[in-house]
Amino acid sequence: MNSIQVLIIDYGSQYTLVIGRTLRELGVRSIILPPKSVDKWLEKNMPKAVILSGSNYSVHNDGAPEIPSSLDITGKNKDKQYLILGICYGMQLLAHKKSGVVERPLANREYGPAEVTLDITHPLFRNVAEKTEVWASHGDTVTTLPEGFTSIATSGGIAAMTDENDRVMGIQFHPEVSDTKEGKKILQNFLNMGECISDWNPTDLINEIQKEVLDIVNMKNKETPEKQNVILGVSGGVDSTTLASILAPILKERLICVAIDTGGFRENELEELKINVKSAGVENLVVVEAGEEFIKNVGTTIDGEEKRAQFRNVYKRIFEEQIVKHNASFIVQGTLATDIIESGKAGESAMIKTHHNVGLSFEVEDLHPFRNLFKYEVRELARAMNLPSAVYARNPFPGPGLFLRVVGTPVSNERIELVRQADKTVNDILRKYDVAKDISQLIVALLGVKSVGVKGDERVYGYSLAVRAVQTVDFMTAKGYYFKEEIINEITNALTKHKDIVRVFFDFTPKPPATTEFE
Ligand code: XMP
Repeated sequence: MNSIQVLIIDYGSQYTLVIGRTLRELGVRSIILPPKSVDKWLEKNMPKAVILSGSNYSVHNDGAPEIPSSLDITGKNKDKQYLILGICYGMQLLAHKKSGVVERPLANREYGPAEVTLDITHPLFRNVAEKTEVWASHGDTVTTLPEGFTSIATSGGIAAMTDENDRVMGIQFHPEVSDTKEGKKILQNFLNMGECISDWNPTDLINEIQKEVLDIVNMKNKETPEKQNVILGVSGGVDSTTLASILAPILKERLICVAIDTGGFRENELEELKINVKSAGVENLVVVEAGEEFIKNVGTTIDGEEKRAQFRNVYKRIFEEQIVKHNASFIVQGTLATDIIESGKAGESAMIKTHHNVGLSFEVEDLHPFRNLFKYEVRELARAMNLPSAVYARNPFPGPGLFLRVVGTPVSNERIELVRQADKTVNDILRKYDVAKDISQLIVALLGVKSVGVKGDERVYGYSLAVRAVQTVDFMTAKGYYFKEEIINEITNALTKHKDIVRVFFDFTPKPPATTEFE
């Protein structure tokens, strides 16, 4: 496998793994490490370039993460000829450590889209428009540059800086976020400046994943020869199905795919799951019916995180039972980088919500071979594995399923059935208008607030449904999708036919500040 060319130091930004993904799109392998692991890695490795990520810290906070001691930020050490790019907090940290001034001026905070003016004679901005739209998310700003540095972009204040040899640079905005129109070009320019070459492809990654899993299987076989099998949790979605297709050829009948029917599936989803898993070449699929157990436990609370905790407990218990039943030595899951970041398990990132399959601490080891990948990359692997478009183009759906779509009122079989039918109704309408293909994910949720309505000249006091469609590349950020008026009217008419539904709300809030799901 090709060597790692870029070291990304993760200071805890929500976007750190997006930097890795963007570099992979540009064909360059990178490793993402928290600051405390960098010194050890640098003992044995020499990257061509280093990126310092953003953070939810200010450089002035107590305990703000530091520059690792072995990282040369002078740009002058002949033995350490890597380029350095600080992004957002990364830039502020570089400026702060080099005696520049970082402040929190009221007038220059930026959250969301901003316009910057670039010095396009600088190689970092080669072939980029002089005025371009970027994604910014910062309270602090570099107000005085360190000695020897010049400003190479402005947006009210200093938006980018470089030292005299163009070896240590900083950008205040986020080139890795897809809303920064020319961000990819800027990162490509940075890679060119560091003489990084494009040498990543899906086949390498598939081989690497197969090797990682086989090595563990062989090791486990020596330790516990009586446990020959491997359990893979499958949901029928793109991640677990693609992982199944990668593992099926090497593990054959020793791969036991386990699907849990939680009772939270959408209409027809279990049938589609069986078809998809079959298309992945899997020999053994076990479906565990557990609807009643999930309802009994998850239905005890309306708090989003408590529901997730209950869901995870049942999910974990069932998998542990299956591990014993099938003599498995470890469990594999299709967890993505996004799930790991949002569960607060990547580097130092703040926890947004607990994903149902992250950090479960099974009695046997669990492996997440897609832990550094994004949905978009897994789709590429699915194509490389020749899976049908029903798999690689499939919209995501959360593991806890419709349980997350009954909001503010306890989950019951009846309410799950209501959202299941509402979801089907809206999906059918979107397909009829041929807009389903423009949407990354549809969410139809029951809102547990009662309000007054009038049906057939009679007062009703019923629930509401929220309809939310988003467009996104990686689910780290998302935009609300605006339906045409006739679609809105048709959805509203169809959903309010249900006796208990009085109103329909449409939610176009972007992520951030909202998330894709309601809880
Ligand atoms: P959010 O709501 O965090 O969702 O913006 C991002 C993507 O992840 C899905 N999601 C989950 N998937 N287990 C999953 O397998 C979970 O616990 C979970 N929570 C959210 C969500 O549907 C969206 O595609």
